[in-house]
Amino acid sequence: MDTKKIVHGAWSSRLAFILAATGSAVGLGNIWKFPYITGENGGGAFVIVYLLCVLLIGIPIMIAETMLGRRSQRNPIETMELLTEEAGADKNWHYLGWMGVVAGLLILSYYSVIAGWASAYVLKAFTGSFFDADAAQIRQLFDEFIASPIQLIFWHSAFMLATMLIVVRGVNKGLEKAVQYLMPTLFILLFLLVAYAMTTDSYFQGLKFLFIPDFSKLTSGSVLTAMGHAFFTLSLGMGAIMVYGSYLPKNISIAKTTLLIAGADTVVALLAGIAIFPIVFANNLQPDSGPGLIFQTLPIAFGAMTGGWLMGISFFVMLVIAALTSSISLVEPAVAWLVENKNFSRQKACLWTGLSTWLLGIGSIFSFNVWANVKLFDRSIFQLLDYLTANLMLPIGGFSIAIFAGWIMSRQSSEQELNMPTVQSYQIWKILISYVAPSAVFFVFLHVVGVL
Ligand code: PFF
Repeated sequence: MDTKKIVHGAWSSRLAFILAATGSAVGLGNIWKFPYITGENGGGAFVIVYLLCVLLIGIPIMIAETMLGRRSQRNPIETMELLTEEAGADKNWHYLGWMGVVAGLLILSYYSVIAGWASAYVLKAFTGSFFDADAAQIRQLFDEFIASPIQLIFWHSAFMLATMLIVVRGVNKGLEKAVQYLMPTLFILLFLLVAYAMTTDSYFQGLKFLFIPDFSKLTSGSVLTAMGHAFFTLSLGMGAIMVYGSYLPKNISIAKTTLLIAGADTVVALLAGIAIFPIVFANNLQPDSGPGLIFQTLPIAFGAMTGGWLMGISFFVMLVIAALTSSISLVEPAVAWLVENKNFSRQKACLWTGLSTWLLGIGSIFSFNVWANVKLFDRSIFQLLDYLTANLMLPIGGFSIAIFAGWIMSRQSSEQELNMPTVQSYQIWKILISYVAPSAVFFVFLHVVGVL
């Protein structure tokens, strides 16, 4: 294949890639979204479907997406163009790269808003706002906060600026340096929080809610949400992992590395759940409180416990860190494409993508206050963007990646690029990517539109 090298960066080591891809995967999805959608969808049964989706759909697609990126060493749009050419397939496949770039920017627009909430809560924790506050006061604090567009815009802007300042510095200086310090800190803080949850008397009730399934609570909508979340949490279906894979040196095993990353991501989500639900139940709170769940519940614990001031600050700092390492990957496909194809400088590319996403984010902000009653297809702007991206675009993107890797790309190319240790492991992946993953996504969609 064409090995003409362009202005494309490279990770300095395997560890750098692992940290960056884990940084992309682990984010608000694990700590903010997983608990609240688990709460909304009844707990254990939802968690099992989600875990199955990660295992049977997410991991094979993550391997495929990394492989496609590394094969071409280009941004997602060019990757699809180049690999289509290599396989002698239909040119239209490059739209897949396009959809990814658009999905990334759409997600970032509301992701940054929520990350802004987390940033604001660092300050609230620091100034002692949670101190001795009961559930009603914490709820009021949250309600007043999201009712103020000015405050939300301020924090959304600050977060967006921080993201762009990291991205503008490029692969080695920006992304790598950031995640090298951020990821280990995140793990330590999360373990501390779980240790606190163990001291509450609702610890086992929390575990029961998370792990004992009640399948009567499962609807086709919740199965779609669980599947969409498997894509969202592993950063799949939109080229983020593809672009990170494209910076991966050729001698590194994709499958082993992927298993490690997906494993770490799943562990973080479960730990977040284990930390959060006992606190929810210990304070007689509702698990289905929606996107405000962690903001309305955890501060109560921070306000009540010894050392809660420091724990509160640490937790929200951790959330912002996790969000930052994900948001940089949401925008990287667009920036890489503008730099490599449109001859933009990195600065100019960051400026334009940053500004447009920031503007779109204002729509999500208004959906929590001034436009709270504006509904499109029964959803607020925030809910619509979330549904459109996580439940539709990412699974469609992932489905297409599976078809491309399993059916369009030649066996010789994928076998060579994956370079698995045994023939059997390649075979297992090949079956999962060609049959299991695409049919699972397809059946969930059929079910949702009521055909099945
Ligand atoms: N995986 C991130 C999270 O769980 O928060 C969100 C995300 C990042 C989704 C990058 C998609 C993506 F491409």
